Amino acid sequence: MFVTSVAKVAQYVQRAADSGISSLIVFGIPKRRDRKGSSASDKKGVVQRAVKEIKSCFGNSVNVITDVCVCQYNMTGHCGLVTNGKVDNDATLQLLAEIAASHVEAGADVIAPSSMMDGQVHAIKGALFDRGLKAMILSYSAKHASSLYTPFRSAAFAKTKLLVDKSSYQVSYANPRQAMLEIETDINEGADMVMIKPAFAYLDLVRMAKDKFSCPIAVQNVSGEYVMIKAAAIRGWIDEEELKVCSIASIRRAGADRIISYFALDIAKYL
Ligand code: PBG
Ligand code: ZN
Repeated sequence: MFVTSVAKVAQYVQRAADSGISSLIVFGIPKRRDRKGSSASDKKGVVQRAVKEIKSCFGNSVNVITDVCVCQYNMTGHCGLVTNGKVDNDATLQLLAEIAASHVEAGADVIAPSSMMDGQVHAIKGALFDRGLKAMILSYSAKHASSLYTPFRSAAFAKTKLLVDKSSYQVSYANPRQAMLEIETDINEGADMVMIKPAFAYLDLVRMAKDKFSCPIAVQNVSGEYVMIKAAAIRGWIDEEELKVCSIASIRRAGADRIISYFALDIAKYL
């Protein structure tokens, strides 16, 4: 896994476009963190600049999704504003709304709130409506608490090395009904697409949701899933080509309408 700079982002998007991939998601890692994570909604923030750059080079030939959260920008690494040692759900909604609006102003086509705060879709829709902005919303509805996010967090916390327990707002693997309820709530709040993540070990829920809801379902094949295959392949323990293709195929079979994956460039040639 690696992080790219705004200066080089167009090169990566060009490679994706050349392999036939026209949709991508931008995750930001800012230079500095602060208490409120204020650079997340900064007009000149890293995501806003990346989106502007991508849109100015590729226009409508690429569909740009942006991850909306505060955990890469604040000091605690939590997906919400922490007050008195607790994640304050309602105080976070205003922040998410402002971040989302700034992404749409920069040119994002789809906003993907990933903080798992209750009411995030409603708050973002309201903020976009008030400002006369238009974008689709892909909600990370059923995001499970998982160690499979560790490589992503290590990239985001390169300097600080924090262990963050998000189990009070991310879903437990042991609670499939909660996952379905989270999805239903987001659809009722007006989400255009909903997401289930990780993929590995959660594909039964993808099928369950696909059979239950008519809303398009996205699945995120997360960083830990990527490194497991890469690491085992480096040791010669598995066949990388086979495993990456068949794991993506299993996500598709389970019912995913959209798949977000670090393997996208690798497997594009098979599609
Ligand atoms: C944070 C966020 C995470 C991921 C995407 N957005 C990690 C987390 O919940 O700590 C995971 C992405 C990945 O592992 O590929 N809102
Ligand atoms: Zn977060």
